[in-house]
Amino acid sequence: MPRKRSGQLFIWEERRKIMSDEKIKNASPHVLPSLPYEDNALYPAISANTIGFHYGKHHKGYVDNLNKLISGTEFADLPLETIITKTAGKADKTAIFNNAAQAWNHAFYWKSMRSKGGGEPPAALKQKIEASFGSVDACKKELASAAVSQFGSGWSWLVLDSNKITVVKTGNADVPLTTGMKPLLTIDVWEHAYYLDYQNRRADYVNAVLDKLINWEFALQNAG
Ligand SMILES: [Fe+2]
Repeated sequence: MPRKRSGQLFIWEERRKIMSDEKIKNASPHVLPSLPYEDNALYPAISANTIGFHYGKHHKGYVDNLNKLISGTEFADLPLETIITKTAGKADKTAIFNNAAQAWNHAFYWKSMRSKGGGEPPAALKQKIEASFGSVDACKKELASAAVSQFGSGWSWLVLDSNKITVVKTGNADVPLTTGMKPLLTIDVWEHAYYLDYQNRRADYVNAVLDKLINWEFALQNAG
């Protein structure tokens, strides 16, 4: 008998644990995605120290805040992109929009870079870039110019807009998804993206990203 009771107790404890895990899962539907590389993979253009703060504190903070803000609301079970489009431009939903968009933007930013990136885009993308900008260098100059001229915090984006590749910049958490454009890649120009490595030299950070890290293959995948 004691063994049986002990077995029942064990099963009951396990069930309670599974139910409790399920509750936690439901209460936190958005998960911080893994970095697509090691935290030192982008060195020396971006240090492990910067990645540690940027990914481990800022990106994680947006995901955690979002989960808190949407808990028990109409947004609780919606995918990230739906939350972004449903809250964009709504004054009473600004906090949810900002944290949802920043969660999306950062996941997209990490994939927009890779170790030993930069260089020539794959032929299929290069052709499209040349059709829009004349040359890859001209495209990189536009991305850099948008990044450097964005006043305050924001993002520089390569996007597909009605089948044409173009460059746009957005402020704070804004993302071109909300205006019907398809993001191909992005550069984060919030100070937290570069200040530890470059202090106020945003242009040096942007040029290092474009020359050493930019992931043209990711842009091509998104253009497909
Ligand atoms: Fe950031």
